[in-house]
Amino acid sequence: MRTVTAENITETFINYFGENTDPRTKEIMSSLAKHLHNFVKETHLTHDEWRHGLELLKWTGDITTDERNEFVLLSDVLGISSLVDMINTHPVATSSSVLGPFHISDAPPMEIGTDFKRHYEGEVILVEGTVKDTEGNAIAGASVDIWQTAPNGLYSSQDEEQDIHSFHGVFTTDENGRYAFTTIRPVSYTVPSDGPVGKLLDATGRHPWRPSHLHYIVNAPGYHSLVTEVFPDDDPYLDQDTVFGVREDLVTTYLPQPAGTFPKEGFELSGKVDESYSRIDFDPILLAK
Ligand code: BEZ
Ligand code: FE
Repeated sequence: MRTVTAENITETFINYFGENTDPRTKEIMSSLAKHLHNFVKETHLTHDEWRHGLELLKWTGDITTDERNEFVLLSDVLGISSLVDMINTHPVATSSSVLGPFHISDAPPMEIGTDFKRHYEGEVILVEGTVKDTEGNAIAGASVDIWQTAPNGLYSSQDEEQDIHSFHGVFTTDENGRYAFTTIRPVSYTVPSDGPVGKLLDATGRHPWRPSHLHYIVNAPGYHSLVTEVFPDDDPYLDQDTVFGVREDLVTTYLPQPAGTFPKEGFELSGKVDESYSRIDFDPILLAK
């Protein structure tokens, strides 16, 4: 095409693809071009506005390191990470939800019943559940990788006060598919807002808060990996998670348990908790491959 116009540029773009282009790449790039070209026309984008957008992307690249991927955060606050999760979740398996940037790959293995909170103070939370398949059968030997914030709202990789393994651990389900541990309440916290994503949130009058949650990655041979989160039903940010991670089946109640009822055995804290505590029951459901 010699004379390119606003009317034919999308078709021209698609016609430029080489004959051997992989069909899925062609489908994705054609659709992306259609939407981007329409976006430019629909908003009547000015040169200044486009330059601003490119500067934001450059800043996103400049601030990105191995520890902080601002592109992932950008995808999260735009709702793209969550949309990809939602359209790829099977209706009878547990919903997936954002991974976030604070998972560590070498979390320590933990015995069922371990106390996760170590020296941290706060109400004891007992978390227990069974990893199941979509038919309701327990899955023994599944790995359940869990992480959360400390009471100051920071993950270990953000906080000089914590060692890197603090509030991170990997459990292996027993012959009944069960995992269990104790911890303290995770807290609501803000996503990093000192970079381009913070600027974007500011410009659109949005806050950077997430409701409190426990992160899970559950794996078992023969099943799809599940990356998800569990939220308490009383968190003030449940209806306005800045990364759109909340799903109905991921909201649980922290059930208050009276003083004197903590299990007498099976937990590192057995015999050490006289006061009231809360419990969370969460059964991750995995989809077979
Ligand atoms: C998190 O839950 O750890 C998280 C998710 C998305 C962006 C930032 C943090
Ligand atoms: Fe998180």
